[in-house]
Amino acid sequence: MGKIAIYPGSFDPITYGHIDIIKRATKVFDKVVVAVAHASGKDPLFSVEERKSFIEQVEWDSGTNIEVDDFQGLLVDYVLRKKGNVVVRGLRALSDFEYEFQMALINRKLSEEVETMFLMAGETYSYLSSRTMKEIISLRGSAAAFVPKHVEEALKKKLIK
Ligand code: PNS
Repeated sequence: MGKIAIYPGSFDPITYGHIDIIKRATKVFDKVVVAVAHASGKDPLFSVEERKSFIEQVEWDSGTNIEVDDFQGLLVDYVLRKKGNVVVRGLRALSDFEYEFQMALINRKLSEEVETMFLMAGETYSYLSSRTMKEIISLRGSAAAFVPKHVEEALKKKLIK
């Protein structure tokens, strides 16, 4: 059976940084499940359905084996339910490390079977975050270099009155 990676996150909304990690992961794993979290301790701008649909609308290369899904509750329980082999997370800068380190170790404590692997974001994307996208758009800047067109349009609709 092929190796399944679970790539969890808030994806509020998806950026070229996430897309870069997903593309890298699909080269390593047979299938990548992009899993949108209902609960991430943050107050999301977009609904789970909106966030999933933004990911589905990305122009993925043909043959890219991804599934877009959502999950509630603990990530490790979801990974086991999905028969995933590994959790993939992207690392941008050193500042991501502490949070990611804590999360990976907590998940390992919760389930020894769930392994976490980190992929380095391409340097072009290492400064991107969903939070800064919201700020740029609400201040009427252009996020065209950072998010796909449909995502930029959705951000404008939501944030510019
Ligand atoms: O994109 P994010 O916000 O950095 O993703 C964080 C996410 C959703 C992966 C994390 O908050 C999560 O796994 N939430 C599910 C609840 C859980 O399992 N918590 C225990 C691990 S810290």
